[in-house]
Amino acid sequence: MSENKKYYITTPIYYPSGKFHIGTAYTTVLANTVKKYRQMRGYDAYMLTGTDEHGQKIQEVAMSRGKTPQEHVDEMAEVAKELWKKMKIEYNDFIRTTEKRHEEVVAQIFERFVQNGDIYKGEYEGWYCTPCETYFTPTQLVDGKCPDCGREVKKMKEEAYFFNMKKYEKRLIEFYEENPDFIDPVYRKNEIFNNFIKPGLEDLCVTRTSFDWGIKIKNDEKHVIYVWLDALTNYITALGYMSKDETKFNKYWPADLQIVGKDIIRFHGIYWPIFLMALGLPTPKKLLVHGWVMMKDGKMSKSKGNVIYPEVLIDRYGLDSTKYFLLKVLNNGQDGVFTPEGFVEMYNSDLCNDLGNLLNRTIGMINKYFKGKMPQKAKEYTEIDKEFQKIINEKIDSIEKNMDNSHICDALSEIWEIISKANKYIDETMPWVLYKEEKMEELDDVMYHLVEALRKVGIMIKPAMEDTSNSIFEQLNIKDEKLQSWESLKEYPEYNQELKVIEKGQPLFERLEVEKEIEEILELMKK
Ligand code: ME8
Ligand code: MG
Repeated sequence: MSENKKYYITTPIYYPSGKFHIGTAYTTVLANTVKKYRQMRGYDAYMLTGTDEHGQKIQEVAMSRGKTPQEHVDEMAEVAKELWKKMKIEYNDFIRTTEKRHEEVVAQIFERFVQNGDIYKGEYEGWYCTPCETYFTPTQLVDGKCPDCGREVKKMKEEAYFFNMKKYEKRLIEFYEENPDFIDPVYRKNEIFNNFIKPGLEDLCVTRTSFDWGIKIKNDEKHVIYVWLDALTNYITALGYMSKDETKFNKYWPADLQIVGKDIIRFHGIYWPIFLMALGLPTPKKLLVHGWVMMKDGKMSKSKGNVIYPEVLIDRYGLDSTKYFLLKVLNNGQDGVFTPEGFVEMYNSDLCNDLGNLLNRTIGMINKYFKGKMPQKAKEYTEIDKEFQKIINEKIDSIEKNMDNSHICDALSEIWEIISKANKYIDETMPWVLYKEEKMEELDDVMYHLVEALRKVGIMIKPAMEDTSNSIFEQLNIKDEKLQSWESLKEYPEYNQELKVIEKGQPLFERLEVEKEIEEILELMKK
């Protein structure tokens, strides 16, 4: 193969104000899944994540902990990296906005904007939401409160620098006309279009004097660059844009996929493309916007005591079940709800009953009927077999489309349709009857179709649940990498007859006692 096609994928850089909950983990798991998929498809996939470390909120949190902001963010960046390690997130780079490589370039970008007349000095007055670090115009407020988080806002006035958004308004509208699919799902695009673009863009205040934990601007040091200009540019500073070595930038920019929650769509759908236009850089190819993982009583928040952290789920239920839950709970930009009941139910039904049992039953039968020997390639195809194959092949096509679109939830749902169909196939072919009637060739064919279904499932879940995928291949004793590749999904290989499946199957997921585990999770949420 000549040089691999590149695929650059980013997560938001998260505020290190506290430990990350499962909402933050969601975006990162999703990005990691897309990365692994692209790698399987032969791409040179590059994933960036990181932390957004400046701003008033971080300064305040640090103070409340009796630390300097720098001490606080140093600590939190380590905590974040530990979590990603535990979750086997394979990012290629972790950018921190307090790093020199970022700060220097942001200051340069700011200078360039000033020189080009994109940034001017003025005075700002508006309604400020401290937690969101955002000014709002009176019309943007909802019931006099912050439209993003619903909290109190206060009226503030300060000397400030502004980015001339109006200058780029026409180009932004043209950009959306030319790229109607830029935001996925499209209804999220319509929202920002109707609420923010159509009414006319407001110039954006890009500096603050009300705090000093940030990147100072040259020759006017009482101003620090406001977090969003600082934050958004991480996607290019991490690649070395405007640095001595722009190799990575030249290779990976523009981003192929930027994943964000709906809370920050305005910044990524309006200001970010405009900053890039002002720098004369290409815009990202796609912005994938997801909803929020909610709790029964609303958004997760520490003060409400309704936060669930990924570590506690992973420690008790394993990494892959946590990832599976997250990837399934949000779909098509919509919100989803975490409940202990929902988690336990999904674990028992999808993971334990459907997938776990399919593997266990298949391994058990191959051991019982054939002393563990791998089945031969099927010779006869009954109507039931043909129907089974047809469904699998159709699903593979549509799963691949969903994976190409980074619609992981839909892809997983369809993989689970194959799993259900495979369990049904066992009920329909009744291997125990074939055995009793000594129809060993037919029985061998049935085992072959089951092994093939499992092999294909093992391949397709790999980007999302690598450990489980590995375990399936281990138990089936399929070591050949070719047979674990996406390209082999449509193949029906001949297995080495010397090979045997594992003698005693290991349950992929142990069945949970429903009531007990619900109690357990409720307890864990209090910690
Ligand atoms: O906004 N459900 O950082 P942040 C799903 N620093 N996703 C959630 C979530 C939830 N309940 N809560 C958080 C910032 N997220 C800025 C970003 S980017 C240049 C700067 C995820 O720590 C989701 O991806 O508040 C959301 O967009 C992001 O975390 C916000 O993280
Ligand atoms: Mg936020």
